[in-house]
Parts: sequence; C-alpha cells; structure tokens
Amino acid sequence: MHRERRVMREMLHSAYRRIRPARAAAFGDRVHVRLRRMRTERRLRARRAMLFPQIKPLVAGKRGFEVGGPSTIFAEPGLIPVYPIVAALDNANFSGQTLWEGTITEGATFRFHPSKPVGRAFISEATHLGDVADSVYDFVLSSHTLEHVANPIRALREWWRILRPGGVLIIVLPRRDSAFDHRREVTSFEHLVDDERRGTQEDDLTHLDEILALHDLDRDPGASRLEEFEARSRRNVEVRALHHHVFDVALLARLLEHTGFEVRGVLEERPAHVMGLACKPQRS
Ligand SMILES: C[S@@+](CC[C@H](N)C(=O)[O-])C[C@H]1O[C@@H](n2cnc3c(N)ncnc32)[C@H](O)[C@@H]1O
Repeated sequence: MHRERRVMREMLHSAYRRIRPARAAAFGDRVHVRLRRMRTERRLRARRAMLFPQIKPLVAGKRGFEVGGPSTIFAEPGLIPVYPIVAALDNANFSGQTLWEGTITEGATFRFHPSKPVGRAFISEATHLGDVADSVYDFVLSSHTLEHVANPIRALREWWRILRPGGVLIIVLPRRDSAFDHRREVTSFEHLVDDERRGTQEDDLTHLDEILALHDLDRDPGASRLEEFEARSRRNVEVRALHHHVFDVALLARLLEHTGFEVRGVLEERPAHVMGLACKPQRS
C-alpha cells in the first residue's frame, strides 16, 4: 500500500514537472490538490490520540456500548480507531430521528464498521438506558454527546450501571477554546451536582439565555442566523443540539471520580477534544 502511494506520488510529481512550464494552470492545480489531499490523509492516518495505546488492549475483542454513535473519531482514520478491533458494539440514541444520524430504527440496525456484526440500536435517553441490563458491557464509548445532556451525572451513573466491574469508559468532549462555546465559562461541578439533586430533565432550558448571548455562530456550521438558532434551541428537547454545559479536564476528572470511576487518564487532545479513560472498579 505504502509502495503504491509512493509510486503514485512520484508519477504525479514527474507529470507536474513536465507540464509545468506550459499548461501548469489547470492540470497543475489538480495535481496540487491531489498531492495535498494525500498528505492530509497520511497525516490523519498517522495521528492517534495520546490515550489510544492505553485504550486499545482494553477494547480489543471486547463487547461495548456507545451512546450517541456512530462517531468518526472511533473509525479509521480517527484519533481512537476502536471500531475495527472490537468484537461487538450496541448503541443508544435519544430518538428515531436525529440531526446527526437521520433515521434510526430500533433493533439490529447499528452499523459501525463494514466487517463487524451489526449491533443493536436502542432508542433511549443517555440518562435512562431502560432496556439495557446491568453490568454487561466491557466498555462504553461516548464522543461529543455528554455536553448535550442536561443531567450529565445521571448519565454517567447510567453508563457505570451497564459496565461490568473492571469495564472502561472512553469519553470525548469538545475542547471549549476550539468550539462555539469558547466565550462561555466552564460549568461548575456544584452546578452539575445540583442538576442531579434536583432531577433536571432533558427538556431543561436553564442555560438558554447564556447560550444565546455567548454562542459563537460563526463556529457552528449547523446553525444559521441568531433567530433561527434561537427557534431551534427552544425546541431542544426534539433537536438536542444545545451544549447544556461546558467541560474542561478538571471538571471531567472530578465528575468521573464523583460517579465512582477510577480515572486512568484525562487530558486535552488539541485542538478539538478533551478525552477521558476511566474504569469501573472490580469491587463495586
Ligand atoms: C454532536 S453529535 C455527536 C455524534 C457522534 N458521536 C460524533 O462524535 O460524531 C451528539 C450525539 O448525541 C446524541 N444525543 C444527544 N443527546 C442525547 C441524549 N440525551 N441521549 C442519547 N443521545 C443523545 C445525538 O443525537 C447525537 O447522536
């Protein structure tokens, strides 16, 4: 594969050198684009999350559950490409129709990798995975989902419930400074504890005014003008696009400890992510 790509690159280079003086414009541009794409692909292929070496043996050949999948970050050439190495994976999403996945049908429909068995799709809240039994999964995956959940401690407790003792949680959140949340404060731990104590539901709009004032629309390709963004946000219980809360490494680590996980690693994976790896203790 490497050799094929090298040969292809050399051919493109030499073609470009030959035509450069004469018809560089059109053909040369195409060659440039192609070379740039190949370089980007190579860079992306090579890049792995710092936690990936730790994660890999914990999920290889194991059975897992994702919340809000599938996720490009868990596929090749993502930063944490676990899909090709797991044995099986089920998934939950809050609705049969989402902004990200389109239509989801409950049952054996969760396709996450072409060579893996199709997993079971559950239509369930991240905070209430009703039909999923206790202590059955070796790992739980979640990418860019917990920030959409109004009661994150309740969700983490639910994910803990379905993990077997010794099972692991791999969680990815947006890094505030690179997201449309960059003008917002990181949410306080006490606020999230209070959400759990008060039983905050997923239709909660406590943060809406703050979001409308500080959301950076220029960094949100899914949103358009402020009026439309506000209208969509008011229907958040159907859409779920709001980031209720803003996380950083310290908050994620504290939440994981608070919900009974042993933290194996929490770090920033620049530019876009905060990542955590945590384990449900063997004796729990
Ligand atoms: C920003 S998308 C991320 C999609 C994918 N995980 C990725 O990283 O590309 C958020 C995902 O979480 C799901 N989601 C949001 N709130 C949820 C909730 N309360 N329960 C279950 N899934 C939820 C959305 O439907 C969507 O699939």
